[in-house]
Amino acid sequence: MIIDGKQIAQQLRKKIKKNIQDLPIDDKPGLTVILIGQHPASQIYVKNKEKFAKEVGINSNVIKFNDEISELDLKNQIEILNRDSSVHGILVQLPLPAHINQKNIIETIDPVKDVDGFHPINVGNLSSGNDAMIPCTPLGCYYLIKNVVENLSGMSAVVIGRSNINGKPMTQLLLRENCTVTIVHSKTKNIKAICKEADLIVAAAGKAKMVKKDWVKETAIIIDVGINKIISEDNYKIVGDVDFDNLKDNVNGITPVPGGVGPMTIACLLENTLKSFKKIKKLT
Ligand code: GUN
Repeated sequence: MIIDGKQIAQQLRKKIKKNIQDLPIDDKPGLTVILIGQHPASQIYVKNKEKFAKEVGINSNVIKFNDEISELDLKNQIEILNRDSSVHGILVQLPLPAHINQKNIIETIDPVKDVDGFHPINVGNLSSGNDAMIPCTPLGCYYLIKNVVENLSGMSAVVIGRSNINGKPMTQLLLRENCTVTIVHSKTKNIKAICKEADLIVAAAGKAKMVKKDWVKETAIIIDVGINKIISEDNYKIVGDVDFDNLKDNVNGITPVPGGVGPMTIACLLENTLKSFKKIKKLT
């Protein structure tokens, strides 16, 4: 079974739109994205974020800076947004230029407005099992998994990759669902054998077509977070971390790339913006 992220994301956006239409106050949620430099993938992500924010009724705004912006100027901009009552979600698109310290920037964002869920307060709350802003990509993966299996309790899950954006929060979400979670990474020995035992694999390694057909059992569910650009002579193709074509008929469920996790990430960003709006307006 192919897990249709595009369709599941559309349903989620529909729900968010209805929720915004039904708000008991006139105000609308506001999302501001800060985009620095000309990173090509970031430009595309930000454009899509704007498009879908508009679709669901979120006021979205993009503030662009060139690569030369100083860390201090960026922090000052974030502080202005922290105080702006029309802004409920702040997202600083990553990666940042090398001269800017990512940690300092993330820690400047008001945790309530941190729709990426990257602030240490949100990271800590998620790992402590408290209410938290959950990073959009793992949250999207979680919804895709729940679309296939209602009860994850006792499942053996393998998360490939240990990043703060994907692998670590994904692990926390699966633990919260009573999965037995193994994280594998670039220093892990015999990843293939570990994957072969898994009921569920979330691949977020950033390595094209890494997960092969003989790595997985037939009953497994595979979620592919990878976005890898394969360049040939005069063209390019986006592929995931999973060898989709060779695997798709041999597993219980698998997400395609594109059309799997990607659309869910954006839908979850919109959901997080609505969540922060409700929290700020004391509507929950
Ligand atoms: N760049 C790639 N993925 C992400 C993400 O989830 N959030 C932000 N802020 N930047 C990104």
